[in-house]
Amino acid sequence: MELGSSAASQRRCQDGSLAGRQSLGQGMGQGVAFTVAPVGRFMAVEIGGIDLAQPFDAAVRDALLDALVEHKILVFPGQQLSQEQQLAFTLRFGEAEGHVVRDWRNQRFGAVHTVSNLDPEGKPTTDLRSNGNYFWHTDKSYHDIPSLATILHAIRLPPTGGDTQFADMVRAYEALPEAVQEKIAPLRVVHSWQASRANTFNRPATAEEIAEQPPVVHPLVRTHPVSGRKALYIGKHTSHIEGMDVGEGRALLYQLLDFATRPQFLYAHAWKPGHLVMWDNRSLLHRASGDYDMAQHARLLHRMVVRGTRPY
Ligand SMILES: [Fe+2]
Repeated sequence: MELGSSAASQRRCQDGSLAGRQSLGQGMGQGVAFTVAPVGRFMAVEIGGIDLAQPFDAAVRDALLDALVEHKILVFPGQQLSQEQQLAFTLRFGEAEGHVVRDWRNQRFGAVHTVSNLDPEGKPTTDLRSNGNYFWHTDKSYHDIPSLATILHAIRLPPTGGDTQFADMVRAYEALPEAVQEKIAPLRVVHSWQASRANTFNRPATAEEIAEQPPVVHPLVRTHPVSGRKALYIGKHTSHIEGMDVGEGRALLYQLLDFATRPQFLYAHAWKPGHLVMWDNRSLLHRASGDYDMAQHARLLHRMVVRGTRPY
């Protein structure tokens, strides 16, 4: 199907013809076309026919953003990107986020960093410095302006397992009883790095980290800035609900999290070598499943995060 603009691409997505080949005009660089095919039951598509290590024009970038909003998770198979090339790809979509997290040597992560189960000698280990990735979260919701998207590129994978799970917060919100939707509509939630560490049984946040990343407040139900769809904005970085008894608020947050991560809202991504996955943090929770032998097998991915906009 011939498409001349990202708006056309969006219409194509909404009319239900999910799979197909896009031709995006006479752009610069490589073929300026890609294929879209579903991989999940209701979200996640595979984008084929594009080499992300090569330049592509703004029309392609906009069409990819449209696909991201519509399908929430984009899987690019067969990619071989250096960290520099992955950073260049990330910067096509906005500003690359920094990180409050430190590595084994207490060094701050750069914009490009690794997610792995490797110790400082490069050996697989179950003794992970941070186990936060195994709890449901949306990346950097403890930031005043949290992330738009995360981009993960598989470098080393275990022979089986090691999936990343995603939960659709739009679908979950829309499945809530109307009375619950009305009850939670005005609520605002405190998110913090300090709460995140406590919620995931990690070492406490340091005074330096807390000073750098003080608590922030976001709506419990956020509106997607592009699609206008409402989504629950919850997860491991939440502390309590503003103006509500702390225990009562935390109980409600856990109740919502329990509901929103039921199997009917999930997609589990089974990684393959060369996969690069980009997902929309404004519409999803995610976590690493950790279902592989971490003492024996390495799992290493390169991660970058695109800064988003203030939730409303
Ligand atoms: Fe994450």
